[in-house]
Amino acid sequence: MQDAVDPALVPKRTLYTGAAMPAIGLGTFGSDHVSPEEMAECVRGAIGVGYRHLDCASVYGNEHCIGAALQELFGGGLRREELWVTSKLWNDRHAAGEVMASCRQSLADLRLDYLDSYLVHWPFPNFHPPGCSVESRSPDSQPYIHADFMKTWREMEKLVDVGLVRHIGTSNMTIPKLTLLLRDARIQPAVNEMELHPHFQQPEFFEFVRGQGIAPIGYSPIGSPHRPERDRTPEDSVDIEDPVIEEIAGRLGVHSAVVCIMWAVQRGQTPIPQSTNRRNYLANLRGAVTAALTEEDMRAMAGTDRNCRLIKGQVFLWKDNQSWEDLWDVHGAIAQ
Ligand SMILES: NC(=O)c1ccc[n+]([C@@H]2O[C@H](COP(=O)([O-])OP(=O)(O)OC[C@H]3O[C@@H](n4cnc5c(N)ncnc54)[C@H](OP(=O)(O)O)[C@@H]3O)[C@@H](O)[C@H]2O)c1
Repeated sequence: MQDAVDPALVPKRTLYTGAAMPAIGLGTFGSDHVSPEEMAECVRGAIGVGYRHLDCASVYGNEHCIGAALQELFGGGLRREELWVTSKLWNDRHAAGEVMASCRQSLADLRLDYLDSYLVHWPFPNFHPPGCSVESRSPDSQPYIHADFMKTWREMEKLVDVGLVRHIGTSNMTIPKLTLLLRDARIQPAVNEMELHPHFQQPEFFEFVRGQGIAPIGYSPIGSPHRPERDRTPEDSVDIEDPVIEEIAGRLGVHSAVVCIMWAVQRGQTPIPQSTNRRNYLANLRGAVTAALTEEDMRAMAGTDRNCRLIKGQVFLWKDNQSWEDLWDVHGAIAQ
């Protein structure tokens, strides 16, 4: 394809194992409106334009279709080792015995014999059905219980031992929770997936993660403009309408979304933008390889932070009348 980006030009993040992970991936969560078939089509197209990193999860409900697309691509000459594929353990599969079964299911659906990384999607075993309302609570929900999380982590470590998974990692963690995990893990997390976009830069957590030799992966890097209704509140701000970002975008002749991706890659995280539109996912990949932001632009982008978390996770709360902030340990200790 004439306009494709050469995957060799995409910057890489070196993990503590020495493995090289492409510094941009394609998100595959359809935000409740992109069908599994459409998402598989995006994966085909994105790999066609040069993406080599996919962010998948069993709860996205589309790994079976993505697997069919991957099989076709392998048939057409793509080699497995050229790809970086992540999947995630969903909250209702934290129990011993469930972790390996869940990983094997993702592997079968994706038609792969190993994953590059497998993450615990949320540090709570609190289940909610896909697409449920924001008020929905599961009666057996619980706060973070470190002993329980470690039982799940031991199972994650076994996945590395038996070769099903090359790296294990975390998602939706906080400094206090990660500190306990780092103290007790036999196999350290290699990556930590966290919400990161210009209006939610999490500077302290970001530096903590990097300081521990863990690669930060930034989800909702554009500010998730089409996220489900349940993940919207009136206070939320819109990154792609930020005047500083719009000014840089105008000067560079790109969409504000692309500036968000450039900023993310140059700052040192690995953004995983989702798009169903070829022009947009190609523009994002091009943005990832250009390093077009000046030091002054990077300073201006740092100044756009509004500490505006978009994915608040209310459905995972465990008590009535609780603030979503309890999920994020905003007072520095693990909320009970
Ligand atoms: N670990 C977790 O708990 C977690 C949570 C949330 C998300 N994630 C992961 O992160 C991925 C990305 O997050 P997200 O989907 O919430 O949000 P996002 O990537 O910030 O935003 C995606 C939206 O931005 C639009 N977009 C993308 N590129 C664009 C461009 N160049 N110009 C204009 N619009 C553009 C897309 O619309 P078009 O389709 O029209 O281009 C799409 O609707 C997910 O797919 C998922 O893999 C993980």
